[in-house]
Amino acid sequence: MNNVKILIGAQWGDEGKGRWIDILAKDADAIVRFQGGNNAGHTLYVDGQKVVLHLIPSGIFQPEQICALTAGVVINPSVIIQEIDSLTGTVTIDPSRLWVSARSHIITPWHVYLDTENEKQSQNPIGTTKRGIGPTYAAKASRSGLRTGIYTDNHRRQEWLAEMAEISEDFRRHRQENKLEWQAFEEAAVKLKPYVTDTENRLRQLIKQDKKILIEGAQGALLDLDHGTYPYVTSSTTVAGGAFGSLGISPRNLGEVLGVAKAYMTRVGEGPFPTELTDQTGQLLAERGQEFGATTGRPRRCGWLDCVALRYSVDINGLDGIILNKFDILTGMKEIKIATSYTHPDLGTIDQLPWDERVLEECQPEYQTFPGWSAETPKSGKIHDLPEEALTYIRAIEQSIGCPVTYIGTGVNRHDYLTRP
Ligand code: IMO
Ligand code: MG
Repeated sequence: MNNVKILIGAQWGDEGKGRWIDILAKDADAIVRFQGGNNAGHTLYVDGQKVVLHLIPSGIFQPEQICALTAGVVINPSVIIQEIDSLTGTVTIDPSRLWVSARSHIITPWHVYLDTENEKQSQNPIGTTKRGIGPTYAAKASRSGLRTGIYTDNHRRQEWLAEMAEISEDFRRHRQENKLEWQAFEEAAVKLKPYVTDTENRLRQLIKQDKKILIEGAQGALLDLDHGTYPYVTSSTTVAGGAFGSLGISPRNLGEVLGVAKAYMTRVGEGPFPTELTDQTGQLLAERGQEFGATTGRPRRCGWLDCVALRYSVDINGLDGIILNKFDILTGMKEIKIATSYTHPDLGTIDQLPWDERVLEECQPEYQTFPGWSAETPKSGKIHDLPEEALTYIRAIEQSIGCPVTYIGTGVNRHDYLTRP
């Protein structure tokens, strides 16, 4: 009981989920991705070597822990096969420790094409990663998707392809005009098949055996399809509650829920961002924090920490603690700000994230300003070893969001973090 721990991105993604999963995974028996696809880019440093994972859970660098993808994930077969191939030699990956859900859905070349076309033709593009995520979830919801278990069954895959060709002339044309891509798509099915299993059932068995499950969020709470800044969101449920539906387990198994947030904010793609800095300070954060997308290479928009948004994340995920990542990036800044409320021209003071993206667009952040610190912060040790100015800043965040900061990230390597006593 209560052996399920969840780690969620508390902002708009890229909070450092991968590196924290890598740190926390040593105490887990299985590490599970429950949503999203290769729109995610989880960066971690293993023995000083930078690795970016898009689909395989970041627990893969543990010696023998199980890594699983459950029903709510969407899978580009060529990408996962490439990922397996590129990791082979560094770690052991075989079907005994990588479980891919037969219930998950497949991103086909057709869905990737639709994503690109939708963005091209839209009056208000979302700035998606163009990885086919939205169209694959749309197909799943309209019950015309391709489940992984069907895809890896040659006969049933052919049935699905034939059915699609019958329904859509565009699909037929796409198949004819992109023969090589579709051939690679079919070849990947053979390679993926050994990993495909009833992941959810096997995870339930692990839970019955009192094993520890660590769930790895992708994207972030503010990109959640229902609770994020719709329509500028991703197409899956990114919040903690969604994990149970995807794993097919009871919420009664829940232990701890942790959120990872950067000590400032970033966002890739379009959509409202009240604390965005388009000045030199924003540039400084981007340069020092190396804020370029791990999936698309796009520069990330940067801004001060938004405690209105973070408070919302604490509430919708039921966070027990916040991991404040990339804290080292703030060292040397003259002054540091956090937004604790917004002002709206018609609605006055707002301290809850509004549901309406147009209202959010019109909000001005109200800042608390803190003096910075120039002393190099310790890489490891205890949070209370930080300079007094840094502690004042952390206390103000905790007070504003109503949640304790339990870890501080101080660098990219495994051991670069501070803890509570
Ligand atoms: P990780 O897991 C940051 C953003 C895209 C776009 C919106 C919709 O690395 O934190 P999509 O391709 O999902 O339909 O795009 O969501 N987005 C992310 N931003 N980190 C991510 O993943 C993201 N995955 C999607 O930029 O604004
Ligand atoms: Mg990322």
